[in-house]
Amino acid sequence: MANKLIKTIDRWKESYFDYLTKRLDSGESKNIAVLETIKVLKKKLVQQNIVKILDIGCFSGAMLNRILNSLSKDERSRVKAVGLDLDREVVSRGADKYQDIVFVYGHIEKTLPLIGQFDIILLSNILHEIAPSSKLSERKKRIREVFRDITNLLAKNGNVIILDGCKPTFNKTITISFSDDRDKSLFVEFSKKYQALKIKCVEVGNKIETDQISLTAFLTKSRYMKEDYWENESLQLYQYFSEKEFIDMFEKNNLKLKTSAPQYFSQDQLDSLFKSIKPKIKTPAKNILLIAEK
Ligand SMILES: C[S@@+](CC[C@H](N)C(=O)[O-])C[C@H]1O[C@@H](n2cnc3c(N)ncnc32)[C@H](O)[C@@H]1O
Repeated sequence: MANKLIKTIDRWKESYFDYLTKRLDSGESKNIAVLETIKVLKKKLVQQNIVKILDIGCFSGAMLNRILNSLSKDERSRVKAVGLDLDREVVSRGADKYQDIVFVYGHIEKTLPLIGQFDIILLSNILHEIAPSSKLSERKKRIREVFRDITNLLAKNGNVIILDGCKPTFNKTITISFSDDRDKSLFVEFSKKYQALKIKCVEVGNKIETDQISLTAFLTKSRYMKEDYWENESLQLYQYFSEKEFIDMFEKNNLKLKTSAPQYFSQDQLDSLFKSIKPKIKTPAKNILLIAEK
């Protein structure tokens, strides 16, 4: 029994490792946080001799490594890259693999390690993992507190870059007609299996009555239902802040907003999934990229 459990955990950890590492290592990933961080980093390398970058929730360091790989030899020699994560196993695998990165083991909800100040801090898909088992209002409070502590690690004129889920501003009730019955069944199954949020799902004939927040959760999370790491994903709420709540958090910490760019699902993707959504709503964002400056 114990052996079987260990094997299951090993399997989901391994497939999660592949998911977060392979496309970055091959250079195939077009991750917006990577591309935007490269731009910010290159700009800073023109303005100053040494640039320090910290990736919080760096996982194995694959993202940071992909960023470093885009630099020239001279640029790369002037970057000090630090990755911080609470997962000892992935941190140690990363330390073996990417030797230009300094890895720090740390839990940002506890004390932030005293590792100096940084010109760039990257928070890619990490804030939504804070206080995962608390109720939403408590989680939002904790995220704001942790973010305030993170801004203390930011040097003057430093940039913080966030990529994370984005909650729709409105939550209208909508009625969906799916193009394919299998996708309708998938929505019903998702509403039963997703645990981080109560998904509104009322079957009305061959249509589904739901709301914008439930639809956004379905679009961002249902693709993991067949994965070994689904159990973990099913507990995570990706959309905790709306765009305005992120921007308010920057203002509270005296940061200047530089970029706020929700990344939308393509109309083609949505058209292939839905026959109609009534009333017509703005396409949900799959995530949001934000950049602010101290
Ligand atoms: C979804 S992964 C994102 C990995 C990577 N940043 C990316 O975008 O591909 C979230 C990472 O954050 C780490 N993490 C979650 N909570 C954390 C915490 N409180 N302190 C430090 N790292 C944390 C996890 O171990 C995991 O590696």
